[in-house]
Amino acid sequence: MVKISEGFEFRHPFSVHTFSGESVDFLVERKGGFTKSLTDMQVGQKADLTGPLGNGFKVQDVKAIFALGGGIGSAPLAVFEKTSLKTRYLVGARNVNSSPGYGLPPDRTYVVTEDGSLGEKGVVTDYFEKFYEQGEAVFACGPEAMLRKVVQICRDKKVENAFFCLEALMVCGIGACAGCTTSLLKNSKKVCSDGPVFKLEDLV
Ligand code: FES
Repeated sequence: MVKISEGFEFRHPFSVHTFSGESVDFLVERKGGFTKSLTDMQVGQKADLTGPLGNGFKVQDVKAIFALGGGIGSAPLAVFEKTSLKTRYLVGARNVNSSPGYGLPPDRTYVVTEDGSLGEKGVVTDYFEKFYEQGEAVFACGPEAMLRKVVQICRDKKVENAFFCLEALMVCGIGACAGCTTSLLKNSKKVCSDGPVFKLEDLV
């Protein structure tokens, strides 16, 4: 959870894009006042960070990964490069200007854009079945409509291991305000403290 002093009362949630030594990288889409102010900050200016909070991707019982990212939902996927697991990526964005695939290995990343300006034309869920290889665990992060479709495809294909990193509005980030519930979950779990990563069985 990130707080900046300039005119914003609340913290905003970001997933970790990658990390090295004592530094952590965030991939931020400039969209809305907070992210514009955040990305306008100069070297030396300070932001207040709380975290890491919630859970993360669990890969203990996984042999190979098929990771899907929609829009800025591809931000947390690069952490799989910190594992030794065979990982392939399928990421989508509106167009080439959104830099789909940023930070991911080009030789193992399929890119789709809605206007066809980079990679295949369409959305991630159009290409799931074409690129998915049986036995891979699915990890997905992106907008709600995309995740609902991925859930459906995983159930149809009987994917054994599927995990979903959910997005939600957050205020406290520690399970205290009930501001981060989502209709994607079967029970009234909190995205910030019970998640943000949930198993296929937890989703409607
Ligand atoms: Fe407050 Fe999740 S953001 S409970």
